[in-house]
Amino acid sequence: MSDTPTLLMTDPAHFDVTYAINPWMAPGAWARDADAHRREARCAWQALQCAIAAAGASVVTAPGAPGLPDMVFPANAAVVLDGRALLARFRHPERRGEEPRFAEVFARLCERGLLDEVATLPEGSYQEGAGDCVWDATRGRFWAGVGPRSTPAGAAGVADFFGAEVTRLDLVSDRYYHLDVCLCPLSGGEVLYYPRAFSTAALARLRDAVPADQLIEATAEDAAAFCVNAVNLGRTIVMAQPTDRLRGVLEERGYRVTGVDLAPFLLSGGAAFCLTLRLDLRRA
Ligand code: ARG
Repeated sequence: MSDTPTLLMTDPAHFDVTYAINPWMAPGAWARDADAHRREARCAWQALQCAIAAAGASVVTAPGAPGLPDMVFPANAAVVLDGRALLARFRHPERRGEEPRFAEVFARLCERGLLDEVATLPEGSYQEGAGDCVWDATRGRFWAGVGPRSTPAGAAGVADFFGAEVTRLDLVSDRYYHLDVCLCPLSGGEVLYYPRAFSTAALARLRDAVPADQLIEATAEDAAAFCVNAVNLGRTIVMAQPTDRLRGVLEERGYRVTGVDLAPFLLSGGAAFCLTLRLDLRRA
């Protein structure tokens, strides 16, 4: 098994903003210039792919599907650890059609030897993949977002399947509806997070597990620019165009920050992290 990070991305050919299931999505505004937005999305997606490759990772692509514009966000497709994938169950009917499509994608990944096993969550719960279940390698645990999208039973299903420690973090804002838009563990043990997205109990859990000097607060501006939704590969962090402040804070801690213009995807409420899914994460 090589230790090159491997990330799944979905070809953006069918990306669109045709419905609104989070407050960032404005299908009317998108439709006024849809062709231009789609062209820009293709360029932005390619720039992200290049930035990830330049950071030393390998990218595996899956096809999207017509009528399923949000398939471009594979972070929501599954939780993956130790070569085992647990497929998502989507909250909104608009995205449920992705479930069988991603099941096919993951079956192919098994055939190619990139995964060993694919399983489904028990019915009756919602869990939107790595978007709401972020691996913290330093602490050997998952942080699980519960709120607008994923349910407590979904987080419990992840804990059962992986036999891993899963710490539940309740999300209290519509704008930060997935955990990956407000929390990002970094390779040096720091956790970049946007405090106002979390319940009081969630903040207490975070502050209990992560020493104060390792908690890096994102501002409202950083969070709204989707900078927390970042891909960290070693000492490189790939993110939507960072604010100067955030770049400075991260560089001071020894990270290299690669900003990518992901504007068309911000119009769907997503950015770097959720445009990808790590396939190679393993427990130490
Ligand atoms: N439009 C998509 C949705 O609302 C964006 C998903 C972004 N994914 C994420 N993990 N943050 O579901």
